[in-house]
Amino acid sequence: MDAENTRPENAEENGGGGISRKTLLKAALVAVPAAPLLVGRATAPASAVTDGPLPLTPACDDGDAPTIEQIEGPYFKPGSPLRTSLAGPGTPGVPLTVSGYVFGRSCRPIAGALLDFWQADNNGAYDNTGYTFRGHQFSDAQGAFRLTTIVPGLYPGRTRHIHVKVQAPNGPVLTTQLYFPGEPRNNTDTIYNPALLMTVRTVGSGREATFDFVLNVNAPNPSPTPTPTSTITPPPNGGGTWQAGTNYRAGDQVTYGGVTYRCIQAHTAYAGWEPPNVPALWQRV
Ligand SMILES: [Fe+2]
Repeated sequence: MDAENTRPENAEENGGGGISRKTLLKAALVAVPAAPLLVGRATAPASAVTDGPLPLTPACDDGDAPTIEQIEGPYFKPGSPLRTSLAGPGTPGVPLTVSGYVFGRSCRPIAGALLDFWQADNNGAYDNTGYTFRGHQFSDAQGAFRLTTIVPGLYPGRTRHIHVKVQAPNGPVLTTQLYFPGEPRNNTDTIYNPALLMTVRTVGSGREATFDFVLNVNAPNPSPTPTPTSTITPPPNGGGTWQAGTNYRAGDQVTYGGVTYRCIQAHTAYAGWEPPNVPALWQRV
């Protein structure tokens, strides 16, 4: 497909609305990324920390509605590789990073959430035979994700966008799309929704975008926090049918260390993600 305008010359800040509890929490996460979250207690920007403990966090009622769903479109392809980077230094196109957090309705971050991204290349074409510009990753212990890619090219009938599926462990799949501010076609694309605008800024010759997902998962955060690998003692007899490099589907069963596990999130397995290590992915049967 032909690309029409592959460079957003007027990328601009998406101002958004007022400061929400989610925004405050994110600021705290950025300020002290290694600090454990206090369950049931609000966190705040570093500047406010000296004011003493904050009151308990009520339900998330300040506009942090779940991220809206959008159509999957015809180009989703299951089984994408596990990777956070879809492009390298030699990849044609404008370098782009997309980063942010995955939250639940409680405004607390969700660790181990699956994010599966797919997009068009610089010329507006999808790779439907391979997995170019397709990849999945998991949010970290703070609920953060980061995607390295390029600004997707345009194709007929659509404005510029990135597709994504987001799923908390054991949660429903959110299928949606992310958009770029300042795009002329935003005004004519009937699928486009401004609620899904990323905040985009120009840095050097590239773009840095941010977006936070809010999943329809109720508090308290039901996602098991992945146990730090450093504290894991592998079973003495690892082995079994589990194998790194395998694409597992939800419902698949494997054995590891003499124990049977059921896959609860589709993923590509790799060393260090043995079933006992990643409760976000495997459940003992
Ligand atoms: Fe698309």
